[in-house]
This record gives sequence, C-alpha cells and structure tokens, in this order.
Amino acid sequence: MNRWSNQLMLAVAGGTVVCLIGLACAGQAAAQGPVAAARTQTAGEAFKNVTTSTLKGLTVSDFLGSMGVMSAALGYDCADCHIAAGTDKVNWEFDTPKKRTARRMVEMVAVINRTNFGGAQMVTCWTCHHGRFLPSTTIALDTLYGTPNDERNDIVVPGEGQPPATQILDKYIEALGGAQRLAGLRSYIATGTSLGYEGLGGGGSFQIFAKAPDQRTTLIAFKEHPERGDSTRTYNGSSGWIKSPRGLFPIYELTGSELDGARLDAQLSFPGQIKQVLGNWRAGALDSIGDKEVQVVQGSGPRGLLATLYFDKESGLLVRLVRYSASPIGRVPTQIDYSDYRDVGGIKFPFKYTFTWLDGKDSFQLTDVKVNVPIDAATFGKP
Ligand code: HEC
Ligand code: HEC
Repeated sequence: MNRWSNQLMLAVAGGTVVCLIGLACAGQAAAQGPVAAARTQTAGEAFKNVTTSTLKGLTVSDFLGSMGVMSAALGYDCADCHIAAGTDKVNWEFDTPKKRTARRMVEMVAVINRTNFGGAQMVTCWTCHHGRFLPSTTIALDTLYGTPNDERNDIVVPGEGQPPATQILDKYIEALGGAQRLAGLRSYIATGTSLGYEGLGGGGSFQIFAKAPDQRTTLIAFKEHPERGDSTRTYNGSSGWIKSPRGLFPIYELTGSELDGARLDAQLSFPGQIKQVLGNWRAGALDSIGDKEVQVVQGSGPRGLLATLYFDKESGLLVRLVRYSASPIGRVPTQIDYSDYRDVGGIKFPFKYTFTWLDGKDSFQLTDVKVNVPIDAATFGKP
C-alpha cells in the first residue's frame, strides 16, 4: 500500500470517506474546488490552472485518472503536490514547486515518446519513478543476484504453443455452464457484503443489479451507520455515474475512458458475449497467479481500452481481469480478482471478488444470486 492508500484507509477507518470503486475519491476531492464538470468540458476548461499540452484536453474523469497515475508512479499522495489536499482548505490550482516539476515532466514524457518512439506510449512516469520520487540510477547488487523482476508487460507477448485466444474463451464459456445457458441469462440480482480492505471500510451491504446486454449497478449501503452514506456505481447502456457519500460532488458522471471501463464491466456481467465485447483477441504465454497456472488472453476496445484476462488452466474459469484505460502519462489500471465460483441454476458465478484500483482495494462476498428476475429500469438511471 502506498502513502495515498494509507491516508485513504485511515480516512475510511475514521468514517470520513467511503471511496467506492473507481475515481469516486478523486472526484470528491475535485469537488471541493468550484467545479461542476459538464460531460463535454475538457479539464483545461473545467479547472482553473490546467495547462499541459497533453492533459488539458482530457475529460475531467480522465484528468483525475492521470492524477492517480502520477501519485502512484511517485509513491505520493495528492497532498504532496497540492496544498492541504484531503482537508477543506485544499488549494488545487496553486502551483507548488513539485507541481511545477510534474508539469515539466508531463511535457518531457510527451517529447520522449514523440521523438524516440514514433508517438507510441513507451515511456511513462512509472518507467523512471517506479514508486519513488527520486528515480534510482544504479542497480543495487543485492537485486542483481536476488529474485528477478517479475513485472508484467501491459501488452501481452504472443505465447508459443498456446491455443488461440478464442479457444480459451470458448473453454471459459463451457466452464461457466455453456453458451446456451449463458444466452438464457437475461438479468440477475446478487446480494452480499463488502469486506473492505484488511478490516477497514467493510461491513456494508452490497448488491449488484445486472441486465443484459450492458446495464449494471452496484450499491453499497451501511444500514448500521447511515452517516457513512450509500455508494452507487451505475451504467445504463450509454451513460454512467458514481454517487458517493459526502463531498460537494455527490454525483459524478463518468466520461471518456472511465465510461468505457464501466461499459466493459457491465458487458462482462454477461460472459456469453465476451468474444464480441472486445476485439483483436490474442493469447499470451502461460503465467501463474498464486499457485494456479493461468492462460492469458488480451483484447482491445475503443480509445486505447485494453483488457487482460487470466484463466485457470485447469478449470477454465476467470481468476483475474485487469483493464487499462489510456492516459497521456501512463495507463490507468483496474484489477478484479474472482474466486469461490458457485453454481446457480446451472451457471457458475464468482461469489467472491476483489476490486483493486489506483487508490484502494475492496473485497465483496456474495451470499445469494437470483437470476432472470425483473429489475426496474430506474435502477440503472442517474442515482
Ligand atoms: C506529482 C504531483 C501531483 C500529484 C501527486 C497530484 N497532482 Fe494534481 N496536479 C498536478 C499538476 C502538475 C497539475 C496541473 C496539470 C496541468 O497543468 O496540466 C495538477 C492539477 C490538479 C487539479 C486541477 C486544479 C485546478 O483548478 O487547476 C486537480 C483538481 C488535481 N490536480 C487533483 C489531484 C488529485 C485528486 C490528486 C491525488 C489523487 C492529485 N491531484 C495528485 C500535480 C499533481
Ligand atoms: C526519463 C525519466 C523520467 C520520467 C519518464 C519522469 N521523471 Fe520525474 N524525475 C526524473 C528525475 C531524474 C528526477 C529527479 C531530478 C529532478 O528533480 O529534476 C525527477 C523528479 C520528479 C519530481 C520531483 C520529485 C521531488 O520530490 O523533488 C516530480 C514531482 C516528478 N519527477 C514527476 C514526474 C511525473 C508526474 C512524471 C510523468 C508525467 C515523471 N516525473 C516522469 C525522471 C523522470
């Protein structure tokens, strides 16, 4: 956990912030400024002092995503570059020395990629910083003779001797219950509890509402602690919102690549259509997660959306999905780990999953899934 998450977790423990999935936190933070982000507004228009050539044209969601990328790459939290971030005295637009350096680095990254890599995003903040504010320049000899660096590439390298990606996806569909049963799955309501992270922030009642082909709402409510507020994340087939408790930004409309991510989550709620929701499927080399051998498959979506799926080689079931959305200074990753698959009317559902994003982590345990139940259309509308 980096310092940003530490701060977040303390805040959660203190009951002051409940960050649901995605950038609700950053959204809340930004809300403390005088921002009412319209869907079509760029960050340069919505904020007072956003001037870099690559960040100013982003949507507000994507701009905040890039703030998450910067923080994670340097091991910083927002307050390292912004005066009093995390308090009500925050001044986001003020230029601190670190913020000025960061702005210079944003332009530098664009120049490096343009002049050396034909504009492809090969160098990001993470390439040099790797979680440190001062990049290291010389190898520590302990590392040289220690365990090799096992960081994965974002873009999977084709694996020799692996079956084609579509064959791995077909095996997954079969493992879940088969194409025919999955085609018959038109909606479901899943109920459970949010476990939080390492004992913090959990205890909420949790619900997923999903309707084929691409509507999904997740809800967390704290019945015993109404002061913590309800959180909703919803996608209705064309628009998405995050409602998070507190803050002057109570409802946050998803834009840009964050919207693409929400759409993918909604579509993958109905895995029978998995082969159609992304394109250019390719299979990578065998890998492992924990003690499981996994087959790796990657697909691409609109605007640089990328998803890597890891399937248990034995059972064929999905154990991890990492989706990446593009930002000019490095991809924004979101990871979902699935386990505890159980049979519901002939279809397997993961009853436990863990959601990890740049500033937090949350786990959910389902207790009940009801399939093909009617769901009121309003459930998927603006919360
Ligand atoms: C490494 C330094 C750094 C960190 C860490 C950082 N920011 Fe920023 N922030 C910047 C820079 C640089 C800009 C201006 C970007 C530009 O000019 O394009 C900025 C601008 C902003 C703005 C626009 C302010 C305005 O009105 O002009 C907001 C809001 C913001 N950041 C939020 C955040 C949040 C939320 C976090 C934590 C998740 C964060 N920042 C972390 C460097 C940082
Ligand atoms: C090519 C390598 C490289 C890349 C890529 C890079 N940096 Fe740096 N960065 C450095 C070096 C080297 C330093 C230390 C020297 C300095 O401060 O000028 C530094 C220092 C900084 C500092 C000052 C840290 C401190 O506490 O004094 C900030 C802030 C920073 N970088 C932000 C960023 C951001 C944000 C990105 C991505 C947009 C980025 N850097 C990408 C090499 C890089």
